[in-house]
Amino acid sequence: MAGKLWKGRFREATHQMVESFTASIRFDQRLYKYDIEGSIAHCRMLVRQKLKKDEEADVLIQALGEILREIEHGLFTFEDSQEDVHMAIEQRLIEKVGEVGGKLHTGRSRNDQIALDIRLFLKEEIHSTDQDVRELQRSLVAQAKANLDLVMPGFTHLQHAQPVLFSHHLMAYYEMFRRDRLRLQSCLERVNVSPLGSAALAGTSLPIDRTLTAELLGFPAVSRNSIDAVSDRDFVIEFTAAAALIMMHLSRMSEELILWSSSEFGYVELAEAFCTGSSIMPQKKNPDIPELVRGKSGRVYGHLMSLLTMMKGLPLAYNRDLQEDKEPLFDTIDTVRQSLMIMARLWEHLSVNRERLEEMATAGYTMATDVAEYLVLRGMPFRQAHGTVGRMVQYCLEKGKELQELTMDEFNSFTKLIAKDIFSILDAKHSVDSRRAIGSTSLKQVEEAIALAEGELTT
Ligand code: ARG
Repeated sequence: MAGKLWKGRFREATHQMVESFTASIRFDQRLYKYDIEGSIAHCRMLVRQKLKKDEEADVLIQALGEILREIEHGLFTFEDSQEDVHMAIEQRLIEKVGEVGGKLHTGRSRNDQIALDIRLFLKEEIHSTDQDVRELQRSLVAQAKANLDLVMPGFTHLQHAQPVLFSHHLMAYYEMFRRDRLRLQSCLERVNVSPLGSAALAGTSLPIDRTLTAELLGFPAVSRNSIDAVSDRDFVIEFTAAAALIMMHLSRMSEELILWSSSEFGYVELAEAFCTGSSIMPQKKNPDIPELVRGKSGRVYGHLMSLLTMMKGLPLAYNRDLQEDKEPLFDTIDTVRQSLMIMARLWEHLSVNRERLEEMATAGYTMATDVAEYLVLRGMPFRQAHGTVGRMVQYCLEKGKELQELTMDEFNSFTKLIAKDIFSILDAKHSVDSRRAIGSTSLKQVEEAIALAEGELTT
């Protein structure tokens, strides 16, 4: 019982199994920096409110700084008996400065302390995650620019549909990640609220100043209800949901890279430094990175589900169940950030097989819609045009021809509305360039999208 800060009402020592079962210190030590930062702000506020003497605060703040350095230099030993990061630091403080160390926890509880630590931590991690997303967007934009006018087959149902610009395809991912960044920013607004001063659940009778600690810690707002502040983790769930969406986008992109680098597609070549080999098949070069990113998305979805489930039956206010928020949150952050970083590098070192993409752009009658739209512009109702071109495709399939290989006579056997200019239509670049409405795949639209993106990437 020796070191326990709550030992007062206990006569029996904690069972060793209980100690290790209840301890969160093995993982929550990751929050040490924020815990100390919060304690220093709390300490300064106590002085301002005359709840502590200047000299006492100086001693405490200096010792907290020393503890920070001890931890950073690996001189601090965290033990299960200390239970969590808050008690480990407070115990060390008391060890260093004696009785006055016991004045730090005035008007505060571990319940508002842990809520504060997670919020401080998450603020920083949201910023870093946002920057990681931005780096990946930069790699995508760079590849889009390097292959600006390259055509490829666009797909629906994984069947050739219509030619699109490769750059337009990449910019589709840019858009997904743009929304992911907006989600992170929005989540940050709700994370960026100080719970400190809510104490255990009801606030404190001591004359504290919550606005001051919030200001010292860089929070623009304080929480409005002490019970809510110590008991909800919706902001952790929100972040995890945003991370799950990022992983979903990364996973779709991974799936495409896996397909595209197969010999069946042959669209791209992943750099050797970003692939691994097989222990038995000498020829293999496997796309493990996108495979692992795709696989890891499941793990983040799982964390989202475990957090939601952990919360759903909790009566107000704090319950120890909440301690189970940390491992899923930490692993979510590590997984999503590593995945983003490695995917950005992968795209930088990827080579695009331009000939193959160009060749496939028109394969599989991808310009059938162009012919139908050609007929529409010459007065044929769209439904009729659809049927006419459908029959042309049927004919081509029988003859083993592509649409652009039909003769004028063959075209005219289907409709007299077709003239010589059909052959200029039956070109992938022309096809792409004719789709000029906002958000379409014409070169000009994609150039505009890239210009817009480049502006956005400066922030
Ligand atoms: N380790 C705890 C957690 O992560 C800190 C708060 C503990 N509060 C308590 N009353 N036991 O949630």
